[in-house]
Amino acid sequence: GTVVLAYSGGLDTSCILVWLKEQGYSVIAYLANIGQDEDFEAARKKAESLGATKVFIEDLRAEFVEDFIWPAIQANAVYEDRYLLGTAVARPCIGRRQVEIARREGAQFVSHGATGKGNDQIRFELTCYALYPEVKAPWSMDANLMHISYESGILENPKSHAPADLYLMTKNPEDAPSAPDVLEIEFKIGVPVKVTNVKEGISKDSPLDIFTYLNEIGGKHGVGRIDIVENRFIGMKSRGIYETPGGTILLNVHLDIEAFTMDKEVRRVKQGLGIKFSELVYNGFWYSPECDFVRHCIAMSQVNVEGKVQLSVFKGQVYILGRESPKSLYNEELVSMDVQGDYDPCDASGFIRINAVRLREYHRLQGFPSIK
Ligand code: ARG
Ligand code: SIN
Repeated sequence: GTVVLAYSGGLDTSCILVWLKEQGYSVIAYLANIGQDEDFEAARKKAESLGATKVFIEDLRAEFVEDFIWPAIQANAVYEDRYLLGTAVARPCIGRRQVEIARREGAQFVSHGATGKGNDQIRFELTCYALYPEVKAPWSMDANLMHISYESGILENPKSHAPADLYLMTKNPEDAPSAPDVLEIEFKIGVPVKVTNVKEGISKDSPLDIFTYLNEIGGKHGVGRIDIVENRFIGMKSRGIYETPGGTILLNVHLDIEAFTMDKEVRRVKQGLGIKFSELVYNGFWYSPECDFVRHCIAMSQVNVEGKVQLSVFKGQVYILGRESPKSLYNEELVSMDVQGDYDPCDASGFIRINAVRLREYHRLQGFPSIK
């Protein structure tokens, strides 16, 4: 039989390649370029020398940004309040091309290097079973253009601090420049369409260039580092360290333009869907009916999420400076303390009394506070 192995060039997948050959499989090595810092030609040679019958190196960077990172940005996707899901969103992207290759090459098997104790195995295998049901799956720093994650080894003790030289994408905020970069990011349908560095006069407008540039700026200023203990799908807690510079800038800025253009109640419903989306993606259910449904709803919420946000990036932080939008729901006259606008303050009295009904009844039962 023929196996398409998601090959990284690292030790684990090199051993798997050799082992699969020893079991009598013919092995097609597939290397996804999702923006990790890797010598792809060296990895090709290595796979060939280990006996791969074919090697495919696939540049998935643009589709990774457009089809996977952008929906996550629209959703404000964050797992357990802190993790921006940089590994989890990459798995369905890698898996999709892997099964495309398997189909085209008539391979009956796919293989990956994730351990049998984590999330990645589930994500890869669910993607494969969803998109190529006939397939069989015989059974780890993780880097891509969205993030780098660090787990296991000396980090398994949750008390031990990360060594200073661990981080590869971001500078230590303490050593970051003492002057900010000031950016303007323009959004349409909830995704960035243009980023401009105001002082430098640099401008980017393709999804991959935008995201890569935000990584560069975020990295330079030490934005997007987290050190967390998270709950794996299978129940165990694990300690992970992540750096997601561009994603962290976009999360902050997207939240701002969304607050400016989205109806209050739509925002509340959509926020719940964003949490649901994050859990589904984390658990490997990108290609599920419920995730399709949630993505459609989130995409629909984004039709008017457009405009420009000005921000500065400085010492590990993103500071919003201002925003403008043709779809703004902000009404300067309505909110002004200086003009009355189309609002009758007398209406407020009844509104407040009605709201107080419930509060009064609650405290009647509790006993009203009295001075002792
Ligand atoms: N804990 C993170 C997640 O579940 C990162 C996993 C990184 N994977 C790896 N094979 N090192 O998404
Ligand atoms: C792994 O399987 O390589 C460990 C990380 C995870 O998948 O959760």
